[in-house]
Amino acid sequence: MATHSSKIRKAVIPAAGLGTRFLPATKAVPKEMIPIVDVPMIQHIVEEAVRAGIEDVILITARHKEAIENHFDYNYELEDTLDKKHKQELADVSRAIGKMCNLISIRQKNPMGLGHAVLCAEPVVGNEPFAVLLGDDLIDSRVPCTRQLVEIYEREHASVVGVMEVPKDEVSKYGIVGGKMLDPRTMHVDRLVEKPAPKDAPSRFAIPGRYVLSPAIFQCLKETRPGKGGEIQLTDGLQLLAEREKLLAYQFEGTRYDTGDRLGFIDATLAFALRRPELAEGVRQIMTKHLSGK
Ligand code: G1P
Repeated sequence: MATHSSKIRKAVIPAAGLGTRFLPATKAVPKEMIPIVDVPMIQHIVEEAVRAGIEDVILITARHKEAIENHFDYNYELEDTLDKKHKQELADVSRAIGKMCNLISIRQKNPMGLGHAVLCAEPVVGNEPFAVLLGDDLIDSRVPCTRQLVEIYEREHASVVGVMEVPKDEVSKYGIVGGKMLDPRTMHVDRLVEKPAPKDAPSRFAIPGRYVLSPAIFQCLKETRPGKGGEIQLTDGLQLLAEREKLLAYQFEGTRYDTGDRLGFIDATLAFALRRPELAEGVRQIMTKHLSGK
């Protein structure tokens, strides 16, 4: 069993990608800043981490991503102007984002893959377990998905990845786990394959971008050679981790939206807008209008 403390205080959020699936929107604006309704996607992700007890968010970033850092800072001119105009509620909304967490950013200077991005966080994470949240996956649940995984890590002292069941023809979009079911939701993982062909998939349990990992993953990632797409894959590093330590997969409770995909993004936008009391009725009317073709 690992000797480090098992309290999860840090989360790594890789955000160095170019966002090519969302061009032209992402030409000058980081894809993480594109909003679902009026909240940038990255804020939804950071809020999930904070609701899971995370204090320090380690953002793996790249050139031209300064807007993300600014978003989680105070904006004195804006907040002061809002104060003077007695728009206290809006000023508070802005300040609350600045207070949300400690944001530490690290540049991933070369795009060498998700595994490499996570490895960039080692100097800040050190010898502590930590969460990883990928920004293209929004998970809507009563108990935040990361919270569900943190509870398992703290109880079992074992790394854990969140999984969901996907149709066979979709396994090639994800990291897929295989192993022995311990209960209807939990698997002891002994195999992981990054984006397998359906015939090579060890199961239909896919990882939609939520992990709580022991710091032993860093050594595993250092030993991981480039895999799919010539990149250092986190999934391949996790295979090594599963050979050295206990690794669990947990079928989390919640609905996942693939906001990196245009249809998934529209799906999430409608779902989140319909939950806002001040917008729901208006959105329903707009949808009815479009569906009736008028
Ligand atoms: C990444 C990971 C993959 C994971 C997926 C979740 O792939 O490599 O294992 O299942 O995120 O969204 P990407 O979608 O960045 O190609």
